[in-house]
Amino acid sequence: MTSSSARPARPSDAPATPTPTAAASGRASGKAILLGEHAVVYRRPALAIPLSALQVRADVQRSTGPSILHSALYDGPLAAAPARLGPTAMAAAAALEAVGAGHESIELRIESNLPAERGVGSSAAVAAAVVRAVAAAFGVALDAAAEHELIQRAERVAHVSPSGLDAHAVRAGAPIWFEDGAVSPVAVAAPLTFVIADSGVAGRTREAVAGVRARRDADPTGTTALLDELGELTRDARRHLAAGDARSLGVLMDRGHAALDLLGVGDPVLDELVATARAHSAWGAKLTGGGRGGCILALTRDHDSAADVAGALRAAGAAATWTTTVEATT
Ligand code: PMV
Repeated sequence: MTSSSARPARPSDAPATPTPTAAASGRASGKAILLGEHAVVYRRPALAIPLSALQVRADVQRSTGPSILHSALYDGPLAAAPARLGPTAMAAAAALEAVGAGHESIELRIESNLPAERGVGSSAAVAAAVVRAVAAAFGVALDAAAEHELIQRAERVAHVSPSGLDAHAVRAGAPIWFEDGAVSPVAVAAPLTFVIADSGVAGRTREAVAGVRARRDADPTGTTALLDELGELTRDARRHLAAGDARSLGVLMDRGHAALDLLGVGDPVLDELVATARAHSAWGAKLTGGGRGGCILALTRDHDSAADVAGALRAAGAAATWTTTVEATT
């Protein structure tokens, strides 16, 4: 018998199906450390710039059943995600807890064009996008400090003792100065065009940070001198940015690369890319991020020379290059 009734098919005592909500999104961008990586772990300042060409988007839909993750690296229950997605799982769990939805389930989709483990902030950017999407899905506005702490919880899974620089930089959208746990804006007198080149070698931030710590334990005086030098280079870089002196900034980047190499976080592939950028008229170049692989950052003279430098870096074996311009603030 066909019923013409509009009654729902489920028995009246079955639990109501939650009203499906539209997916809520969160975004964050990549970053490059201009100067101060590693030294920032020891309370020296650091400068970072946004890489707006590199973006992560997370979409969260409230759901029933186990939480699910859809991503290029893994598709399946969040609880069974591989260890390398531990920071992502932590970001989702911490954000759900923070918005009072610790027992709720979500369907999480991540789209990203940031290469992972290349020192451009992939783990922090994914965590930031996830935290923002979860908060939006549950209609909770998190303030900047709460957002930062949730990203840091994910970063601690990735790096054990992150300085907090990445967690700020991937949300900033502008150059930042980071010192003593606080961020402030950076004055830039003239636009600067940077090329970032991916060596194709996975960076190993965790091991690199542990290596610097071991070096400091074995040689406190020598290591402290290098950390101090990196701190001074970073302070000088802020002055050159404010004065619009790209040539002097490039010299500092070269010196930063040499100091990072002495700290033990260099790699011959990075050295080759840095030398290539310099040979093609870059004002300066250095490794960026944790090192031992990952990316280099080159400061170029202008857009035309940036195209030359990027082409030369790809010809020298870079897996990918991105060009970004930091606009003047004054
Ligand atoms: O490699 P990345 O993008 O995770 O950058 C690490 C920066 C370090 O200074 C080496 C570590 C830190 O916690 O700041």
